[in-house]
Amino acid sequence: MSNILLIGNGAREHALAETITRSQQKPKLFSFMKSNNPGIASLSAKTMLGNYSSLDAITGFAAENKIEFAVIGPEDPLNNGVVDALAKINIPSVGPTKSLARLETSKSFTRNLVKKYNIPGNPRFQIFTTTNGIRAFLNEIERAVLKPDGLTGGKGVLVQGDHFATKDEALNLCEQILSNFSSLIVEEKFDGEEFSLQCLCDGKTVVSTPLVQDHKRRFDGDKGPNTGGMGSYSLADHSMPFLKPQDLQEGLEITRQVAAALLKETGSPYRGIMYGGFIATKDGAKLLEYNARFGDPEAMNILPLLKTDFVEVCRHIIAGTLDKLKIEFENKATVCKYVVPKGYGLPADHPDAASSKAKIEVGNVEKARLYYSSVDQKEDGLYLSSSRAIGIVGIADNLQEARKIAEEAVMAIKGPVAYRADIGTDELIQKRIDHMKNIRKDYR
Ligand code: GLY
Repeated sequence: MSNILLIGNGAREHALAETITRSQQKPKLFSFMKSNNPGIASLSAKTMLGNYSSLDAITGFAAENKIEFAVIGPEDPLNNGVVDALAKINIPSVGPTKSLARLETSKSFTRNLVKKYNIPGNPRFQIFTTTNGIRAFLNEIERAVLKPDGLTGGKGVLVQGDHFATKDEALNLCEQILSNFSSLIVEEKFDGEEFSLQCLCDGKTVVSTPLVQDHKRRFDGDKGPNTGGMGSYSLADHSMPFLKPQDLQEGLEITRQVAAALLKETGSPYRGIMYGGFIATKDGAKLLEYNARFGDPEAMNILPLLKTDFVEVCRHIIAGTLDKLKIEFENKATVCKYVVPKGYGLPADHPDAASSKAKIEVGNVEKARLYYSSVDQKEDGLYLSSSRAIGIVGIADNLQEARKIAEEAVMAIKGPVAYRADIGTDELIQKRIDHMKNIRKDYR
């Protein structure tokens, strides 16, 4: 029997825990979490609570429980070097070393890598450590995106038209960013539709998983502040309704070239998840950013569809033999909806913000999958915490059915909660299709 360590405490990790424990190999799951996730705890032989920077606590827990390998869910422990610390005691991981995790933790590293190895997909960009030269660059590009050069929990990117309008506003924001980060990237904004391409990588072989589209804005109609992600969908054919086949091919080819470039640049194979945030534009697929982990919520769309034994997948990633394994996913559509506290994403002085820590009741959600995120299991029931609470996933032969299943389950969660009703609806998807048709009408 094999003992597997899972690090992380969110809904993504709850889905990982489920995928690990449904393996035919009957592994024993050991979980290290920042805060208790009742879903992960219920699937684990043993759990330990602690900080993701407490590397001694993590390696001690791993050694004591004779762990075969670790699966790292979130970016923080990767950034803290947990994979390097575990490697020192001969425990391999599905997840990159601290140096390779710069793919996510340093946006300048990735933009420069893509440029240096002549890989397509970059926008016009410049990296700044002071505000000198920013205005001149802003004058060269039509619309700008400002990215702090570090981890921001998916909420740090500022986009012209959404977060600021004028060059003066952009400069003020750049000053603010540079007071918290040592550098920032100013990029040309792409127009198009985003898609998440989560790939498995063993350092040489890159395998794509079904495409997913996330919804970052808090409110229906893509309105309101950016969040960690309010929900996502995937289609039974593993593509997106607004893409051409070559968009996926281009995204995959960029990822393959980046994996090869990482090996050349660092001398070490990238063993883990390369999650490319891509945007389909009039000129094909372009790279927005990479994450060094599965997406949250996107992991909840693809992991339940995985037909190949995940423990085998992990072993092949670690051994560098992914090319020897056939990796298959069910041809089903999925819709994931995050149930969040009503106050999620709202300013602290908003009247709804007070609802954050309230009790919730989970009714009949049997037809859907339920993945806990930030919830507090007390003796008298389940309480909201400050962030996204529960990921609900509907899975069916088509998107409409999957959405219906997710929607019914969301309705069974009672309390001061909110969600996005529009995710997976025909209307929203048609909007994406029309947007792409409009962008591409004079091209390819
Ligand atoms: N879905 C956004 C992220 O995982 O970063």
